[in-house]
Amino acid sequence: MAGGVDQQPIETTRNEAGKAERDVVLSARDVTVGFGPKVVLDKLNLDIYRGEILGFVGASGTGKSVLMRTVLRLLPRRSGTIKILGQDFDELDEPERNALDMRLGVLFQQGALFSSLTVKENIQVPMREYLDLPVTLMDELAHLKIRMVGLAADAADKYPSELSGGMIKRAALARALALDPELVFLDEPTSGLDPIGAAEFDELIANLRDSLGLTVYMVTHDLDSLFSVCDRIAVLGKKRVMVEGTIDDMLAYDDPWVQAYFKGKRARSIVPQDDAPAARAQHDSGK
Ligand SMILES: Nc1ncnc2c1ncn2[C@@H]1O[C@H](COP(=O)(O)OP(=O)(O)OP(=O)(O)O)[C@@H](O)[C@H]1O
Ligand SMILES: [Mg+2]
Repeated sequence: MAGGVDQQPIETTRNEAGKAERDVVLSARDVTVGFGPKVVLDKLNLDIYRGEILGFVGASGTGKSVLMRTVLRLLPRRSGTIKILGQDFDELDEPERNALDMRLGVLFQQGALFSSLTVKENIQVPMREYLDLPVTLMDELAHLKIRMVGLAADAADKYPSELSGGMIKRAALARALALDPELVFLDEPTSGLDPIGAAEFDELIANLRDSLGLTVYMVTHDLDSLFSVCDRIAVLGKKRVMVEGTIDDMLAYDDPWVQAYFKGKRARSIVPQDDAPAARAQHDSGK
């Protein structure tokens, strides 16, 4: 499985005293992406650290999905460098790229599952693409992933059209986890779910992060997710990452969009009551 691939050295940041700090599993530097005359991302920088759940937010159309697709090499960039798990795809040959791809899991915003395949077959798509395994083993692995994401065993043979929105998200997550990735990209995984379903999905992601040691890059508009499961948040605006940090950093950041987003009417009711008194104090003082 993907876990058997040689672990590559990870870039490590250093603090002023020269002590090793957190592992950087994804680093984007000066990344510029555009379509014709339109520049969507302009010299964007971003770091993601091992083991964190990073919430990536920004107004609709600012380029969150474009960045994710660029990182995954599905869109070309005009300039800049991107390192994933310490490696730059541009410097790798084909087998090395495949080996790195296997360490990444993806849940796309659109078309999370192939409609003509059952859940089990969907989960097995990456296995067939990257591995050469006997069918019985692939079946066993697919069932394991189905259990892991909290779906009933009989979901395996269902088609996406037979599933609820929440079940589709879980099945798509199972497919993202098919190769035991280290870094998972989720593009709006809770969109379309009711608040309880979304909260359960958030809890699932947090549990999987803890049990599997995943790093999660999650594009989301869901304020509940940002407050409850994200360790850090990055805000995309003005074609780059405008601010990154904790919820407290967001609440203190002096930008009209960030203020409206995190302190607006919809945010007010979900500023944590017990977990973040500092955030609440700042929030209240910003009325
Ligand atoms: N393949 C493409 N060709 C041309 N323009 C594109 C392409 N993909 C995205 N864009 C444009 O890039 C901009 C950013 O799109 P993107 O899908 O990344 O937004 P987003 O931040 O993910 O928005 P949302 O929150 O609505 O999902 C938009 O103006 C979009 O029209
Ligand atoms: Mg998007």
